[in-house]
Amino acid sequence: MANFATPLEKTPDINEELKQRIDADRVPKHVAIIMDGNGRWAERQGEHRMVGHANGVRSVREALTGATEIGVKYLTLYAFSTENWNRPKAEVEALMDLLVKTVIGELEELNANGVRLHAIGDIGSLPESCRRTLQEAIASTAKNDRITITLALSYSARWELVRMAREIATKVRDGGLTPEGITEETLAQHLATAGMPDPELLIRTSGEQRISNFLLWQIAYAELWFTNVLWPDFKKEHLFQAVLDYQNRERRFGLISEQVSPA
Ligand code: FPP
Repeated sequence: MANFATPLEKTPDINEELKQRIDADRVPKHVAIIMDGNGRWAERQGEHRMVGHANGVRSVREALTGATEIGVKYLTLYAFSTENWNRPKAEVEALMDLLVKTVIGELEELNANGVRLHAIGDIGSLPESCRRTLQEAIASTAKNDRITITLALSYSARWELVRMAREIATKVRDGGLTPEGITEETLAQHLATAGMPDPELLIRTSGEQRISNFLLWQIAYAELWFTNVLWPDFKKEHLFQAVLDYQNRERRFGLISEQVSPA
């Protein structure tokens, strides 16, 4: 029988330990994540790839709650790329289904925690049920302001840049803009992420070290953090570790060390 007089041994909480080391004044405002490795995670345990995606939802929750706890204001997740349309039809359909179920299932929790949902990408190309669920959830969470979670769906940076070029070219043709009037700001205003700060930190899981057509303009100065952890195994502690590593780096923006941190 348990001896209730003996205090329970305190197990060190890795999340709390890491969180305490994070400098609250230098938390990145915007963290972007390339969630990778769901398929490999599932295959390693002899399961169907979709089992990996389903377990990846838990990691989305971990990343979101962790980001909220440390004061990140924008979390952007690469959930479905333009290239992912070329996967087997059954996987694409199951992913769309998972997306709808997840958004519906999490909506109450998002609202209870002040989370605003947003989506970027060629949303018009998603199945009708996905579009409708997303639109409703985006409208329902529109006034929340603790953190914005952006799902990149049917997204690729090249798609976004082509769309931007077309919009700007149309404005020039119609006389609303001159070629000389085009600045970096003009381009930023025509990106899918207009109005959001650029991500300071980009995380990719599963050991791959590439950008895969994600936020190419926006990550010009982002710190990149790669981990071998497969997405379904990603926990808050990994996010906190990434933020700590980010805080230990010197971000020079093309300057020299003495300019950014004078002695
Ligand atoms: C990459 O793993 C993951 C995806 C293409 C889909 C991401 C989806 C989720 C995490 C599930 C639900 C998300 C939301 C927002 C509801 P992969 O399939 O490329 O893995 P592999 O490289 O090991 O094959």
